[in-house]
Amino acid sequence: MEIRKFEGKIALVTGATSGIGRAAAIAFAREGATVVMAARREERGAEVVNQIAAFGGKSLFVKTDVRKSEDVDNLFKTIMDKYGCLDFAFNNAGVSSPHNPTTIKIDDNEWDRIMETNLRGVWLCMRHEINIMKKQGGGAIVNTASILGFVGDWGLTHYCASKHGSLGLAKTAALEYCKDNIRINTICPGPIMTEMLEMALPYMPKMLDIMASKTALRRVGDPEEIAGAALWLCTDEAAFMIGKEIAIDGGYVTY
Ligand SMILES: NC(=O)c1ccc[n+]([C@@H]2O[C@H](COP(=O)([O-])OP(=O)(O)OC[C@H]3O[C@@H](n4cnc5c(N)ncnc54)[C@H](OP(=O)(O)O)[C@@H]3O)[C@@H](O)[C@H]2O)c1
Repeated sequence: MEIRKFEGKIALVTGATSGIGRAAAIAFAREGATVVMAARREERGAEVVNQIAAFGGKSLFVKTDVRKSEDVDNLFKTIMDKYGCLDFAFNNAGVSSPHNPTTIKIDDNEWDRIMETNLRGVWLCMRHEINIMKKQGGGAIVNTASILGFVGDWGLTHYCASKHGSLGLAKTAALEYCKDNIRINTICPGPIMTEMLEMALPYMPKMLDIMASKTALRRVGDPEEIAGAALWLCTDEAAFMIGKEIAIDGGYVTY
């Protein structure tokens, strides 16, 4: 009989309607976890629920805008009412600005949209996740930052600031709560072929070539190449990983 890693476990994936989050939700479900998926687009959520059901997996979509406290409160109330626990959380929802405004051209709304999604949204979710995991005796949290959590990039000041912040958030919370058997780590993807990159193509048609040329492998990655690492960080094999980042970036080069 096939042994699946996460049989009987409950996993949350935010930003599960596309890209890295969708790949991770499917991968968690293939390993036997019941997956709670959070994002804003209900139709896209239903599509992923159906994809998972098609191979006998279990999932639930909860419409959630991670910028809104009331949505996040509802997400975790739903999880606890329905399942009574949360073993793993992959805080992955994120946005970028496809038009690459330089620092002085970012307007207030755009700055807030990026920071509220990529940083405040992660913290809002982590607050609930840590509370739940403390009470139940442990769990694993994985956040998606970016290689732009380490370096800057032209036209992405607000995105880079949010992802640098995300690393600080995870490192600090990891130190605070490892005594409660909660492991918090971060994945830093390089350029990955998702809607986030597709949305920028009209503004920068050569972007994929440019992104590929910045990696040693000379290609952009696939969402599944990130999802595998998120799953591994939730296994007992990663028991000694606390407050660290894994860069999965094809050997991204900065100049
Ligand atoms: N693709 C890359 O090259 C790359 C590189 C480094 C890091 N990342 C990071 O990887 C993560 C996933 O991005 P992706 O590349 O997979 O892009 P994507 O395909 O655009 O997926 C982004 C996901 O985030 C969700 N989301 C956005 N705003 C949200 C909000 N306010 N509330 C809830 N969900 C929200 C979207 O769903 P809804 O629109 O349905 O809400 C979608 O499911 C992001 O954190 C991104 O910053 C991506």
